[in-house]
Amino acid sequence: MQLARRLMAVREAVRDLRADGSTIALVPTMGALHYGHLSLVARGREVADHVVASIFVNPTQFGEGEDFDSYPRTEEADRAKLESAGCALLWAPSREEVYPAGHSTSISVSGVTEGLCGDSRPGHFDGVATVVAKLFNQILPDYALFGEKDYQQLAVIRRMARDLDFQVEIIGVPTIREADGLALSSRNAYLSDDERKHAVALPDALGETAAAIVGGETVADAIIAAKAKLFEAGFATVDYIELRDAETLAPVETLERPARLLAAARIGKTRLIDNIAVEPR
Ligand code: PAF
Repeated sequence: MQLARRLMAVREAVRDLRADGSTIALVPTMGALHYGHLSLVARGREVADHVVASIFVNPTQFGEGEDFDSYPRTEEADRAKLESAGCALLWAPSREEVYPAGHSTSISVSGVTEGLCGDSRPGHFDGVATVVAKLFNQILPDYALFGEKDYQQLAVIRRMARDLDFQVEIIGVPTIREADGLALSSRNAYLSDDERKHAVALPDALGETAAAIVGGETVADAIIAAKAKLFEAGFATVDYIELRDAETLAPVETLERPARLLAAARIGKTRLIDNIAVEPR
């Protein structure tokens, strides 16, 4: 696996990979890689000839008081994982390479960024859209893969790519879960043993709520019950649990089309997010 830290170098490496007409899939990450990320690489290898992964802990998507400084940075282990997953090239730029002095352009997507994490993390999706647009321009991939775990992020990136005419196919990849159902996340590393045990209440609550809604309970009542379950399990706050349209992310009061139940909640100091599909019978 090649490694590039400078823009000129990554562009040259991508040009070489493409020289024989090969296609490229991009897997953007912030490192601290787990099996969820590696499933993106695996899918990338199915759809394209070469996979390029990026590791960049993007400062512009972290708000004040969030975990930018403490976000796990494990580049050496990440490199080994990407190499054995068959990644052809790792793009791991410095902060200065991505945001040189005087950088003053930002991309803001409306609509799908409203509510959910858009409310609890103001400015977050501007940072995501901006860095992903830059990654698309840096690598010019044919495909880009993102986990469904960050469902709103996936919707924001799809909208941004469509609205700005990026020639890239966005592929969403299903969430990978631990045996007990907890979605894999780099932030699970923050959980104490006790918090980890109780964190499973999040996917459990989503599953029960989805079943209740499909079974005819009102969305509002099912969500009240889900919040109670999370507090009972020891979650400190629930930022949101909401049913949204699976495509537009518009709020859903009655289940008539494919929807998505999305939640964000804090256990101890750790904010966890998760979501599942809810389909009418
Ligand atoms: O999902 C992530 O890890 C990040 O938000 C992304 C897409 C790599 C942009 O920094």
